[in-house]
Amino acid sequence: MITLGIETSCDETAAALVEDGSVLSSVVSSSVHLHSEYGGIVPEIASRFHTEYIFSVLTKTFESADRDMNDVDLVAVTKGPGLPGSLLVGVAFAKAIGFTRGIPVIGVDHLKAHVISAFLEGKRLDRIRDLFPFVGMVISGGHTRIYDCRGLRDFRLIGRTLDDAVGEAYDKVARILGLGYPGGPVIERRAASHGGGDKPGFPRALLKNSPGIDFSFSGLKTAVMYYWRDAVKTEQEKDRICYSFQEAVIDVIDKKISMALRATGAERLAAGGGVINNRALRQRISERCAREGVDLCLPPGEYCTDNAAMTAASGEALFNAGERSDLYLTAEPSGARHEHGGKTA
Ligand code: KG4
Ligand code: ZN
Repeated sequence: MITLGIETSCDETAAALVEDGSVLSSVVSSSVHLHSEYGGIVPEIASRFHTEYIFSVLTKTFESADRDMNDVDLVAVTKGPGLPGSLLVGVAFAKAIGFTRGIPVIGVDHLKAHVISAFLEGKRLDRIRDLFPFVGMVISGGHTRIYDCRGLRDFRLIGRTLDDAVGEAYDKVARILGLGYPGGPVIERRAASHGGGDKPGFPRALLKNSPGIDFSFSGLKTAVMYYWRDAVKTEQEKDRICYSFQEAVIDVIDKKISMALRATGAERLAAGGGVINNRALRQRISERCAREGVDLCLPPGEYCTDNAAMTAASGEALFNAGERSDLYLTAEPSGARHEHGGKTA
């Protein structure tokens, strides 16, 4: 079975072909460079980019797998959450393909797809039913969520951010420090090259005396803002702030993972989303899982940020589990792509 995946929830136009859980090709074209001067995503620019590039992205996806449209058995498309104008481009495209080719189209939840992306390597997807139960996490620019995953159609939300998502906090701190957008990669780089010296102590919210698995990052961002306002403005100071900010973020995520594992009794953790690109975070999560004897599944870098391989793989698995959508499938912005609407400029 060959599944064509289409993902246009935010600023990446992506398509992929997956055959029985293995990725044949995955192409991503990002409009991120068009948003950098605004410090966040401009929805209108993002949706125009999708309409302009979706056809060439699709063409490249078929070319690099040496397949064509006649080989496709199923179309899987991100139905939400996301920017409405962006989602619509992918959903309309997927429906048109399904209608003209007479093949099924299935709508995929973008957040669950980020969790499933953790299984894209190592042929784990063809036995996905055996991987449950596990703790699933999405740590991206728009969302920070923890699920108790009991089955493909049974993801129970057990923790989420009450304000900023982790990636959003990285992006806002980068904006405060004048480091551009997206903030994650540049903050990671600067944190790794900090030259020592006194480092600011930033808060770890909802950690002490908090029994829940929810997160809060807006206080951390505000603490950085006030610290920087009164700081001596040097590049070294920026590096130290990046380091301390990142340590605070990682401490919180690490602790919440431990709480989620304990609360669910799961012996496997699957985490995806753009922030999972971060090497210091990956390292800390690996140490935690090794200590607790937990099987850790993380996607390779190319499948951390938005891509359609995870959409296709999730759609295929859901279809095989009996899920169906009809051609009345609509984009589901679910209020806002971001927990609190912060990532858009
Ligand atoms: O998953 P993604 O493409 O966005 C959403 O679906 O929301 O991830 C983008 C986010 C941005 O906020 C970016 O700053 C962050 O992921 N990010 C990182 C790193 N690379 C990307 N955050 C921390 N460290 C990184 N290396
Ligand atoms: Zn995403």
